[in-house]
Amino acid sequence: MNAPDYVQHDGLKAWVQQMVDLCKPKDIHWCDGSQEEYDRLCQELVDAGTFTKLNEELRPNSFLARTDPSDVARVEGRTFICSRTKGDAGPTNNWMDPDEMKGILNGLFDGCMAGRTMYVIPFSMGPLGSDIAQLGVEITDSAYVAVNMKIMTRMGTGAIDVLGTDGEFVPCMHTVGAPLAEGQEDSVWPCNPDEKYIVHFPDDRAIWSYGSGYGGNALLGKKCLALRIASTMARDDGWLAEHMLIMGVTDPGGEKTFVGAAFPSACGKTNFAMIVPPQAFADEGWKVTTVGDDIAWIKPDKDGKLYAINPEAGYFGVAPGTAPDTNPAAVETIKKNTIFTNVALTDDGDIWWEDIGSDPPAHLIDWRGNDWTPESEDPAAHPNARFTVPADQNPVIDPDWDDPKGVRINAFIFGGRRSGTMPLVVQAFNWTYGTYMAATMGSETTAAAFGQRGVVRRDPFAMLPFAGYHMGDYINHWLSFGRNIPNPPRIFVVNWFRKDAEGKFVWPGFGENMRILEWIVKRSRGGAFALESPLGWMPRYHDITWKGLENFSEADFLKAMSVDRDEWNEELLQHEELFTRLHDRLPGEMRAIRDLIRSALFRSPEHWEMTGDPT
Ligand code: GTP
Ligand code: SPV
Ligand code: MN
Repeated sequence: MNAPDYVQHDGLKAWVQQMVDLCKPKDIHWCDGSQEEYDRLCQELVDAGTFTKLNEELRPNSFLARTDPSDVARVEGRTFICSRTKGDAGPTNNWMDPDEMKGILNGLFDGCMAGRTMYVIPFSMGPLGSDIAQLGVEITDSAYVAVNMKIMTRMGTGAIDVLGTDGEFVPCMHTVGAPLAEGQEDSVWPCNPDEKYIVHFPDDRAIWSYGSGYGGNALLGKKCLALRIASTMARDDGWLAEHMLIMGVTDPGGEKTFVGAAFPSACGKTNFAMIVPPQAFADEGWKVTTVGDDIAWIKPDKDGKLYAINPEAGYFGVAPGTAPDTNPAAVETIKKNTIFTNVALTDDGDIWWEDIGSDPPAHLIDWRGNDWTPESEDPAAHPNARFTVPADQNPVIDPDWDDPKGVRINAFIFGGRRSGTMPLVVQAFNWTYGTYMAATMGSETTAAAFGQRGVVRRDPFAMLPFAGYHMGDYINHWLSFGRNIPNPPRIFVVNWFRKDAEGKFVWPGFGENMRILEWIVKRSRGGAFALESPLGWMPRYHDITWKGLENFSEADFLKAMSVDRDEWNEELLQHEELFTRLHDRLPGEMRAIRDLIRSALFRSPEHWEMTGDPT
C-alpha cells in the first residue's frame, strides 16, 4: 500500500495497511476531496449504473441513485453499542460483548472488498481546526459513500493537514458486504440483504458498519460518529452532542438569538432550520438563518455560555414533502450539485416526489426503476428518499455557520410528532422540568427508521436511536450539565402535528411556525407574557402575532393548546413505563417532576384551557 506523500501520520498508515490486509480490496484510493475527484467518481457511478445523470439544463451537475429495495433506511434493529458492559449501553440499545462482536466482524470483513476499490476518506466533523471539531477516517468500498462524504463533511487533504503526524481520529470501517468473485458482474446497488451490522465501540471510539450502503448506516461521520460516539465523548468531557438543528433568529431591532431544536427523524428539522418567515414577519424585519439542520455539538465556554457548531457540511434531507410552499429555501438549495436517492425520475430527466407542489406527470420512473403513472398504487418516490447537497447552497445560510468558535445558544426546543396530547407550545418552568419534558418526549415513528410506522414511542431528546450509552445516564448528564452553568438556556416543547377528530392537522405548520418561534425567542430573552399551565408556561392567543393568519381563530388556538387530563394521565403512565425500563440509572428528579405534573393536573379543571389573563 502506498499512501500519498502528504500523509505523514504513521498511525493512520499502519491502520489502513491493517485494513487492506483484512479486506483484501482490488485497489486503494486515498480521497483528496477535490472537485476533479468528485466529478470522476460520479462519472464512474454513472458508468456502473448506480447514478443516472439528471438533465444538465434542469438540474445541473446532479444525479439520481436508486438503492436496492431492501436498503432504504437506517436499520435500528441491527445497530449495536458494544460498551464493556451491557449496563453501559442501557436497555434502549442493542448490545453485544465487544470481544465477541470483534470476532464476528473480523470474520465478515475478511476479504469483504474483493474485486472492489477501497476508498480512504479523511474528514473533519466541524470546521477544520475548530476546538469543537473531531476528525475521522472512513474506509469504504462504496464510491457512493465517498461522493456523499465529500458533500456532508470537510473531506480530503484539509483534514489530513489538521491530523498532522499524530493527531487523533475516529476509525470508521465500512463495507457494503458484497465481495466480487473473479469475473462476477456487480449489481447497481451492492449491499448485503442478509446481514447488516452497524457497530459502535464507545470505549475504543471505533465504528464498524457492514452490509448497507444507505444514509446513516454508511455515511459514518453522521449518526455513528457525530451522535453515537460523540455523545459518549460529550458525557466524558462535559459537552452535548445532540440531534438538533441550529438556527439564528434576527428580530426587527437587529438582535440575534440562536436556537437549538431537537425533533426525531423526519419530523421537521430541515424544514424548521430553513424556515422562511411569513410576509408580515419579513416586512417587519424578522430573519431566520440556518447554522445546521440535523446535528449540534454544544460546549460551554469558561463563563458557562454555550457555543454550538454544526459538525456537518451538507444536508441529507427528506425529499418527499419538500415543496415551494413548505420549504422554499430547500427547493432553491437543491437546484444544482445535488445527489438524489430513491426519488422518481421524470421523462425529461428531472426529479419528482410526492407533495413536491406540482401534479404528478402522466409518466415517471419510480424509485424502484419501474414505470409509474398517477394510477399506480405505490408512491413514486420512497417515503425516506433523500437529497444530499452542500450546505453553502442554502440561500438562508447563516454567515457564522462555518465559524470555528460556534454560535451562542440561547434556547432549546424539543418537538415530537404527536396527533394528540401535546400542546402546540409550552415553556418548561426550569432546566430540570425541561430535561423531564425532553427525556419523556414521545413521537410517532416515521419512514426514516426501518420498521413499524405511526406508533407513539418514547424518543428521549430525539436521541433514542443515537445515544451511545445508557439513556438514564443521558438524562443525568443533561441535569448535571445544566447545574454547572450559571444561566442555562430556556427549554421549550412544541408539537406541529396535532390533529383534530377528522384527522386534519390543527396547526398549519411550516412557515407559520415562525409565529411560535417569535414567542419562544422573546421568552428566552425574558420578554413576552406567559400563563402558568399544568405543564409549563404558555402564550395566550393575543401573545402571538397573527397578522397574515387571521383565519386561525382563538378557538382553533385553544384546541391546539389544550391539555386534557385523561390524555395526560395516560401519557404519565407511558412516562412511568420508560422510567421502569431506565430504572437502574434513572435520576430521582424524573419521578419527582412526574408527581408535580400529576398534582398540577388534578388542581386544574378536567380539560385545562386557558381562560385569559388570570389577573
Ligand atoms: P431527519 O433528516 O430524518 O433527521 O429529519 P428532519 O427532522 O430533518 O425532517 P424534515 O424537515 O425533512 O421533515 C420531514 C417531514 O416533516 C415532511 O414530511 C414534512 O412535510 C413534515 N413537516 C415538517 N414541518 C412540518 C410542519 O410544520 N407541519 C407538518 N404538519 N409537517 C411538517
Ligand atoms: C435520520 O434518520 O435522523 C437522518 C437520516 O438524519 S440518516 O442519515 O439516514 O440517519
Ligand atoms: Mn436526523
